[in-house]
Amino acid sequence: MPLEKLNQTLVREIINLKEEGRAKADERVIVDYLPPKGDKGPRYKLKGVDRDFIRLNSNSYLSLADHPEMIEAADTATREFGVGPGAVRFIDGTFKYHISLEERIADFVGKPAAKIFNSAYTSNCGLSLAIGSKQTHWIGDELNHNSIIRAMRIANVPSKNKGIYKHNTMEDLKRCLNEIPDDIERVIVIFDGIFSMRGDYAPIDKIKKITDPYDSKFKDGIITVVDDSHGIGAYGATGRGTPEFSSESPDIIIGTFGKAFGVNGGFIAASESVIEAVRQMADTYIYTNPLSVADCAAASKALDICDSPEGLERLDNLKQRVNQFRIGIEKLGHESIPGHHAVIPLLVRDTAKTHQLVKYFFEKGVLVVGLTFPVVPRGDETIRFQVNAAHTEFDIDYVLGVLSEFKK
Ligand SMILES: Cc1ncc(COP(=O)(O)O)c(C=O)c1O
Repeated sequence: MPLEKLNQTLVREIINLKEEGRAKADERVIVDYLPPKGDKGPRYKLKGVDRDFIRLNSNSYLSLADHPEMIEAADTATREFGVGPGAVRFIDGTFKYHISLEERIADFVGKPAAKIFNSAYTSNCGLSLAIGSKQTHWIGDELNHNSIIRAMRIANVPSKNKGIYKHNTMEDLKRCLNEIPDDIERVIVIFDGIFSMRGDYAPIDKIKKITDPYDSKFKDGIITVVDDSHGIGAYGATGRGTPEFSSESPDIIIGTFGKAFGVNGGFIAASESVIEAVRQMADTYIYTNPLSVADCAAASKALDICDSPEGLERLDNLKQRVNQFRIGIEKLGHESIPGHHAVIPLLVRDTAKTHQLVKYFFEKGVLVVGLTFPVVPRGDETIRFQVNAAHTEFDIDYVLGVLSEFKK
């Protein structure tokens, strides 16, 4: 058996992961979707489980994935051009739907241009390949998403050209800026907009105020980059995300179509020159097939919906449900992290109790995520709730009721 020796080694490695508590649990399979009915939002059925579930572990913040207009847009595009692009973008894999989504998302986030990717993950990797160089220094928040950390590894950023500041701590960001080596020509300060494990957000104004005075020290200046994958579409008065909470926009915005917008795919939005550099130098853009036209058409429609009265209504319901939930867990005396985002952490601060609570919610028909070490530091064990626009007042009351029963 050609794979026998490798199989044995991998099995041992997976056993180690399990023993260290770092292995992923078996994946549950969603086998049915039950649309909203009466005062209840959507419910889901799982393979082998004879009950339905409320999902509080989905990133689909506006609950758009099954929107009839988006399904119709995807269907029309598919009938026009088929299900796959047949080639990478520079070898005639570019269709009008790719271009219109790029124009639409650039306009949505207020930047001159954008490039779309298969995911926000590959967008981060592409950006680091396109704008990194031997004389580039990277500075990031310690809680940045895995895709940003991976992006720097892919771009071979040596540790001397990296600075990590304590989460949202501006004094520490200043320390990183003061430690930049002399031969550096370009500095990139990169951070999540919304931190996905905590639901808090990066203080863009404060970051800009600290970084701006250093700009003239470097040949290519200091560039700020936000990955607002959890913010765009779901956060701020018009769903523009974290930049809506500051007077200035970061220079480069990265985001996803796979969360609030309910589809798939990522993007980088910036100046025309940065976007052309991305097209020329981002391997994760160049050497891989693009999104299908169906994804692009559905994502463009999601942006239209987000900007329509219906979108604002969805955002408004999301805000109300988030408020209801945040007030509810405070009343029950639980510890959380203050904020307004739909990611609502409940700090349990105990591994066994976190597992117990996840199990209890499951038995009561609620899907939530438990975060334990090493995903979060020891002592920060958390249940992460994610509210979305399709949850009803009844749903949130039900979940709070389950929490209250558990407490008793
Ligand atoms: C900040 C951040 N960036 C990127 C991603 C990945 O998004 P995508 O699924 O589009 O790759 C996530 C998803 O969890 C995220 O939180």
